[in-house]
Amino acid sequence: MKRYSLQLLPYLYNALEPSISKSTLEFHYDKHHRGYLDNINKIAEEYNLEHEGGIESLFVHADSKLKGGTKDPALWNSVFNNAGQVLNHDFFWNSICAREDSISSAENIDNKLVTAIETAFGSIDQFKQDFVKVGVSQFGSGWIWLVWLPRERKLQIVKTANANSPLLDGMVPLMVCDVWEHAYYLDYQNRRADFLKKVVENHLNWKFVSSRFNSL
Ligand SMILES: [Fe+2]
Repeated sequence: MKRYSLQLLPYLYNALEPSISKSTLEFHYDKHHRGYLDNINKIAEEYNLEHEGGIESLFVHADSKLKGGTKDPALWNSVFNNAGQVLNHDFFWNSICAREDSISSAENIDNKLVTAIETAFGSIDQFKQDFVKVGVSQFGSGWIWLVWLPRERKLQIVKTANANSPLLDGMVPLMVCDVWEHAYYLDYQNRRADFLKKVVENHLNWKFVSSRFNSL
């Protein structure tokens, strides 16, 4: 039986302190993220799912099953939600990094990416402000993304609810921030804006964003 494995956290649990506490990261990675992965493996075993490809492929497959009017919407909803959450968390851990790594990666941010950000938002500072604003406007659990729109050939900030992803709408994710309450409640309680400001000011992994942008 196929089993999916947990992507390693790319830093130590205390690497994002004080913005994100060791305790938050332990719960977030080791309980929430691992929980979604365990659910997928349980479903795969129970229903004898033998899907070729990784988590992203399974997520896209579940979406097409739901859109195609499957006879088992409960099963495919569960696959969609848990695979989506694994995929989004994998992407989130890569989108952020320790403060010193964020500073050094910002110093080496690709010129083409800077130009694209300035074209779309006016400046990098304005992009950060807009990102926080969109993050605050997401009602309930979800994710805030910097995406590339292939048709319009421009960057945009978008939000998705629950386990959804803009890749299902043909957008290319370059970076994401988790705005489920489990991402910030231990450290910030209801102050989601403060959490988002800390992330965009101190922890964006510009090296990762640049590499995604350069691979377009
Ligand atoms: Fe999360």
